[in-house]
Amino acid sequence: MRELLARDLERARVRTLRLTDLDEPELVRQHDPLMSPLVWDLAHIGQQEDLWLLRGGNAGEPGLLPPDVEQLYDAFKHRRSDRPSLPLLPPVRARSFCTEVRGRVLDRLERADEERLFPYGMVVQHEQQHDETMLAALQLRQGPPVLGPGTALPSGRPLRLAPVGDEAGAGGLQRWRSALSDSCLVPASEFVLGVDLAHEPFSLDNERPAHVVHVPAFRIGRVPVTNAQWREFIADGGYQQPRWWSGRGWQHRVSTGVSAPMSWLPDGSRVRFGLIEDVPPDEPVQHVSYFEAQAFAAWAGARLPTEVEWEKACAWDPVAGQRRRWPWGSAEPTAELANLGGDALRPASVGAYPAGASAYGVEQLIGEVWEWTSSPFVAYPGFSPMLYDTYSSPFFGGDFRVLRGGSWAVAPSTVRPSFRNWDLPVRRQIFTGLRLAWDA
Ligand SMILES: [Fe+2]
Repeated sequence: MRELLARDLERARVRTLRLTDLDEPELVRQHDPLMSPLVWDLAHIGQQEDLWLLRGGNAGEPGLLPPDVEQLYDAFKHRRSDRPSLPLLPPVRARSFCTEVRGRVLDRLERADEERLFPYGMVVQHEQQHDETMLAALQLRQGPPVLGPGTALPSGRPLRLAPVGDEAGAGGLQRWRSALSDSCLVPASEFVLGVDLAHEPFSLDNERPAHVVHVPAFRIGRVPVTNAQWREFIADGGYQQPRWWSGRGWQHRVSTGVSAPMSWLPDGSRVRFGLIEDVPPDEPVQHVSYFEAQAFAAWAGARLPTEVEWEKACAWDPVAGQRRRWPWGSAEPTAELANLGGDALRPASVGAYPAGASAYGVEQLIGEVWEWTSSPFVAYPGFSPMLYDTYSSPFFGGDFRVLRGGSWAVAPSTVRPSFRNWDLPVRRQIFTGLRLAWDA
């Protein structure tokens, strides 16, 4: 386990350094008020590692930074919009601080008790999460590209059209909408929601404990909703018709004037990390808010899945009567199974990962886009906080919706079928998309 963690720490660091291998003005500039300057993320990664792995979470104990500098990297103390005006460490100093912390951490890890490795796994996930956040900041950045087009991905494949229920005989748009429903049936049954540390030693507090729930039958999209499908929604006046939107969603749509996913341009192209390119029709749509996702689903004659439905479709093996570690089984993710790790800089076309299907035949659940669910973010029964109680607890019961599955920008060490992300229903700067569901 120690070797595995050392490897994951190293992988995270390689990625962090690559994403911050930019000229100083790019690192200290704030690319959007929603995001931190990249140099804040960089030193914050080191500060959290110092706190959790060198001081056991005891903020009262002196760290490698003087207290007045260390407090600059307290995410609860300084809002993102205020961070560019803080006297932050310059990039060269932030890098050397991170390197110094890491050297000491690796020494400790060598001697660490096998039973007490959870904080290392938590710190790996923290760094990888910030790497994804930095990618979201770079997507919002104006100016010529600094990341290139991204690495190659497997091609998609045409998907079987499977009209559902009484829509099967419909014509025109109805017929087309039912083509959205290349869907998989998940019969009613009990299943085990969530995980325990014994099976997922690096699961975070809100994924635990495992508990049995009964889930009525439902259908779920085989793949996420695509850009081509979203275009039909736009062409059919989806953004102009309040009937598809919730009351709050419509209010938000009107007040912001949104009329397409973030980064789409009026001429049918999009901006992706500074590159202007045609919107690929078969790629899962990304950068849509919960409100938009909900409206799309209503227009399509569907709904968003609950997070419980999503997790069952992803992880449950009805034949074995137990959870799978990954949708496809126990094998660790590979380039043939899922689009993860962030190098592609985009989702893969739908149908690109048939080998990654779950027991119910659902594909591309892990990687691609964070999928909005209809579920508010609440604690599971028996919840108890992990090392610190501010990871999940302050957010339970707030105005958040749960997102599942991770995006193309997530590292394999940072996502699991049980992993729960959450965000406000208006947010779309992260790599968000959706998958449809239906009652069955
Ligand atoms: Fe953080």
